[in-house]
Amino acid sequence: MSAPYSRKNPFPARLLESRSLTQAGSGKETLHFEVSLEGSGLSYEPGDSLGVFPTNDPTEVEDLLVVTGLSGEEMVPAPSGNLLPLREILTRYVTLREPSKQLLAALLAKCPEAENELSEFLDPEAKRVLNDWVDGRDVADVLLAYPCANFTAEELVKVLRKLQPRLYSIASSPKVFPEAVHLTVAVIRYHLHGKKRQGVCTTFLADRAKEKTFPVFIHTAKHFRPPEDTSLPLIMVGPGTGVAPFRAFLQDREKVGATGKTWLFFGERNRTSDFFYEEEMNHWLRKGVLQRLDTAFSRDQEHKIYVQDRMMENAAELWKWLGEGGYFYVCGDEAHMAKDVHGALQRIAMEQGGMSQETAESWVDELKKAKRYRRDVY
Ligand SMILES: Cc1cc2nc3c(=O)[nH]c(=O)nc-3n(C[C@H](O)[C@H](O)[C@H](O)COP(=O)(O)OP(=O)(O)OC[C@H]3O[C@@H](n4cnc5c(N)ncnc54)[C@H](O)[C@@H]3O)c2cc1C
Ligand SMILES: NC(=O)c1ccc[n+]([C@@H]2O[C@H](COP(=O)([O-])OP(=O)(O)OC[C@H]3O[C@@H](n4cnc5c(N)ncnc54)[C@H](OP(=O)(O)O)[C@@H]3O)[C@@H](O)[C@H]2O)c1
Repeated sequence: MSAPYSRKNPFPARLLESRSLTQAGSGKETLHFEVSLEGSGLSYEPGDSLGVFPTNDPTEVEDLLVVTGLSGEEMVPAPSGNLLPLREILTRYVTLREPSKQLLAALLAKCPEAENELSEFLDPEAKRVLNDWVDGRDVADVLLAYPCANFTAEELVKVLRKLQPRLYSIASSPKVFPEAVHLTVAVIRYHLHGKKRQGVCTTFLADRAKEKTFPVFIHTAKHFRPPEDTSLPLIMVGPGTGVAPFRAFLQDREKVGATGKTWLFFGERNRTSDFFYEEEMNHWLRKGVLQRLDTAFSRDQEHKIYVQDRMMENAAELWKWLGEGGYFYVCGDEAHMAKDVHGALQRIAMEQGGMSQETAESWVDELKKAKRYRRDVY
């Protein structure tokens, strides 16, 4: 029997479908994907993510070849040790983003005239400066700035970082779609340092994944499974792509006829263009799979309204649900949203539970320890 598919032995998956979740006029490009797992023997649970190994954009590979003066035909050891043409290694195995410290060190060795500029970045004390400089720049930008480098194909490959897979929350229930996974992906395209730039994996999925199969694996998330007891209240906070796992939870609950009440807080920029899965949400509301849906469209009015504002407006009810043994789930942006939602939960405990800040902090910690406050944030 062949080995089961895993991160080390990923399954070559096929894209079945993609459609836009954002409508004309939206400032975002968020897409719904359906990926076939047929024949893989892979299974998943609500809360899990799909790992995707992207390939680099061929245009970016060609741009780097032009900058380095290499043909792409040079045979070079790949990270696996096999000899492969440089073009293939640049496409499949290394990232063309995030120039490494090794790349800068090699530049310094080859371009003594650049020593003053580069040595600063190699000083261990100057890591922050290095990070700031590298931030947002590609390997091609750096090599264009230092043509003196003149790398051979083998030297170049040695100083590039490995291309890593990206994770995407699975937005479907295995009970409804045992042989496919659905994803909700915000495509990254922006302008920085004078040129158009893009996310590697999101644009791979959006622009090139339908051409052939691509390697995937299931990333299990034991910490983010739906509540074991489906009769208890379930509160889900999932703005933007954070809604993905909750679509999986709701599909699952509809299938098994879960009895506990559910409440979803969803947020995006504008109601008319960015209300993802609106019809499905309305269907679940009508069927009683979802009892409450509170939306926060941040840019439909002059001042920003976020999911945590909706939580605060409904603090008494939310506190009641938690008092009934409810579970509190958060998914999506880690840096801002999840931090603010955490703060709102604490404020609710203070306002509604009459707790001091310190007691409210311990109460939130206890909720976490009891696994009734679960997060999957990125
Ligand atoms: C457990 C988990 C679940 C996830 N689930 C999802 C999901 O369901 N949906 C989803 O879309 N993502 C999800 N992600 C994030 C996803 O894994 C990728 O990180 C994301 O899609 C970006 O990948 P990329 O290769 O397209 O971008 P990359 O090539 O990795 O580039 C991203 C980087 O580009 C830079 N950048 C982006 N925009 C700008 C800008 N405007 N200005 C300047 N710099 C910018 C930032 O440095 C950013 O870190 C999840 C992550 C984790 C860990
Ligand atoms: N690096 C980047 O530039 C970039 C670009 C796209 C996505 N991402 C990352 O990808 C992940 C998910 O992005 P996404 O497209 O799903 O949506 P998102 O960027 O998280 O936005 C979804 C909604 O959340 C709102 N929001 C912004 N700050 C918030 C806060 N502090 N608290 C609560 N809500 C807040 C947004 O409002 P407003 O936008 O109106 O403020 C928007 O209405 C995040 O990690 C995000 O940082 C990064």
